[in-house]
Amino acid sequence: MTIRAGIAVWAVDSTDSVLCETFILLAQNPTVQKNAYEEARRVIGDDYDTPMRSEDVSKLTCITMVLKETMRLIPPVAALESHGGNGFLTLHHDPKVFPKPEQFIPERFLPENVLNRHRCSYLPFSAWERICIGEKYVMPEMKFTVAKILYKYEIFTKMETDESRLHALFKIQGLFNDSLETESPII
Ligand code: HEM
Repeated sequence: MTIRAGIAVWAVDSTDSVLCETFILLAQNPTVQKNAYEEARRVIGDDYDTPMRSEDVSKLTCITMVLKETMRLIPPVAALESHGGNGFLTLHHDPKVFPKPEQFIPERFLPENVLNRHRCSYLPFSAWERICIGEKYVMPEMKFTVAKILYKYEIFTKMETDESRLHALFKIQGLFNDSLETESPII
């Protein structure tokens, strides 16, 4: 019972963190946000309330790259003790693999760029026997959520991009309410 509750809290917590961080990074990168917004409008179409099918979600390629780059920049489980503190952070910030590792560059996840990297250079969901069983469920869920929110809202933040950002973002849930503002819609 305790183990199950722990897994559930951790799973929700990591999903929340990725979404919060994604919206802050989109707010700090308006051009990326505009591209993601336009993709959301294109894929969802005129009727916001029409249910999205899995085929539609898989068309959210720009939003997928944004989520992947967010998890590279700020690996959601980087701080877990079971990973010796910051193993994923070190892996995802190797400048030989990810030049300018502190910068938010979703194009790193264009298919042609992914092909040039070792498949173990990016492991937000871990690998092998400890691989996350939630990945196939949570990625479509996060893409859907980002698309639906961007469809209606433009995201702003007062948080500045600086070196302290990584530290701040690990504590994101406490900062979220003070840091983000929304205005609807962009167009
Ligand atoms: C963005 C969201 C998520 C991220 C980044 C993430 C990441 C990870 C990582 C890195 C591990 C390996 C942990 C370790 O080696 O100690 C893991 C394990 C696990 N995750 Fe996730 N996870 C996410 C969401 C979820 C969700 C939604 C579920 C449930 C539906 C889930 C269920 C699990 C379980 C059960 C394990 C343990 C696997 C095992 O050790 O056999 N995760 N996750």
